[in-house]
Amino acid sequence: MSDKPVKILILFYSRYGNTVKMAEEIAYGAKELSNVSVALRRIADDVPTEVISQNPQWSKVVEDMNNRYPTSSVDDLVKELPHYDAIIFGSPTRFGNMAAPLKALWDRTSKLWMDGALIGKLGAVFTGAASVHGGQETTAISMMFPMLHHGMIIVGVPYSVPELTQSGSPYGPSRIVGPLANREIDDADIKVARALGKRVTMLAQKLFRE
Ligand SMILES: Cc1cc2nc3c(=O)[nH]c(=O)nc-3n(C[C@H](O)[C@H](O)[C@H](O)COP(=O)(O)O)c2cc1C
Repeated sequence: MSDKPVKILILFYSRYGNTVKMAEEIAYGAKELSNVSVALRRIADDVPTEVISQNPQWSKVVEDMNNRYPTSSVDDLVKELPHYDAIIFGSPTRFGNMAAPLKALWDRTSKLWMDGALIGKLGAVFTGAASVHGGQETTAISMMFPMLHHGMIIVGVPYSVPELTQSGSPYGPSRIVGPLANREIDDADIKVARALGKRVTMLAQKLFRE
């Protein structure tokens, strides 16, 4: 049994700030256990600043996110991934799929794949979407494909978490943000997100520290 903390990375893309809130709740859940180090990383946007600055509301959200979570480049993230025991990916639903910056990151991981650098690490996912059946589950699964190709071990949320009947899915936490992406995160969303963070940490401790 090692007392070295397990290392969890929560890596997300967010345009309007909802995915950030989920990432934070997952981090809280992970930290409910002791002996864990949690890093939150926001991947850089693929939309040029000139485009964002034409929309005052969007600019304000991005400014706030920049202050709290400065973006990381794909290059830096590719170097960082192998240093964690577990990687939790979060993306807004984009036409039923993960957002392009996250897919672009995976597309840069050939060397990690050839080296087997992520084999045996834990992987988990979370998402949000505007509408009730807007593609949350397909988006969650889309983020699992590269993880499985890398030999990662996928962790979901079990139905022993009672709030799973109101929010998220066994594939991972997900929430409905509404058409204007401004619906408040609710208690069930928070409970499911925290349950995932805690579960990934508990499993990482069992697998890598016992
Ligand atoms: C290009 C694009 C595609 C989207 N596709 C979907 C979709 O297929 N289904 C859905 O319910 N919402 C869709 N949305 C809404 C986003 O999922 C929602 O705004 C997002 O979850 C908010 O997360 P964020 O605040 O972290 O950016 C889409 C938004 C954009 C910009």
